Amino acid sequence: MRYSILFASLLLTVLAVGCREKVETSGEGFSVNRRSAKPAAEAPAPLTGTPASQRVDLVSKGVGPVTSMELPDALNADLLAKGERYYNRLCVACHRIGKKSIGPALNGILARRSPEWIMNMTMKPEEMVKKDPLARDLLQEYDGSPMANQGLSRDQARAILEYLRTLK
Ligand code: HEC
Repeated sequence: MRYSILFASLLLTVLAVGCREKVETSGEGFSVNRRSAKPAAEAPAPLTGTPASQRVDLVSKGVGPVTSMELPDALNADLLAKGERYYNRLCVACHRIGKKSIGPALNGILARRSPEWIMNMTMKPEEMVKKDPLARDLLQEYDGSPMANQGLSRDQARAILEYLRTLK
């Protein structure tokens, strides 16, 4: 009998402590979670806070043959159809749509990079990862797996760019 009372009070104490702890943790809420989750998530990109693939830089034109270009507002249907074919032949193995793969998903890339930067990355990826800081960080984020230079002409790269404009 005495044991069962002892046991019951022990149980109550454990429950009480348990409840109090629960309240305390949920009371501190998000800040606790964020503090513990952030350093782990950012560990692969120690140089700056945001992973390179999510950084927005519409000013840099990168390093390579394309130094300036204007994109007309309207899409060019011929160019777009060609670009989609090239993309499906040459890019889709590493760049899936809407999903990270061997390389980053290229959806919305024109909201993160200038057209020149994209053209240079498409045509001269090895030069870009050597000389362009953002491309270099990207390579690091993707564990040093480099993007292949497939010897694309400027016209081919331009057609692919037209297709990339449609991937939101
Ligand atoms: C062999 C795999 C592979 C192929 C094929 C490939 N890429 Fe990539 N790409 C990558 C990787 C990996 C990265 C990330 C940076 C790095 O490692 O060089 C990347 C990065 C990029 C970026 C920069 C993305 C960002 O978020 O800034 C662009 C633009 C790009 N690729 C375009 C293309 C286009 C266009 C094609 C097709 C002509 C293509 N890539 C083919 C692997 C590939």
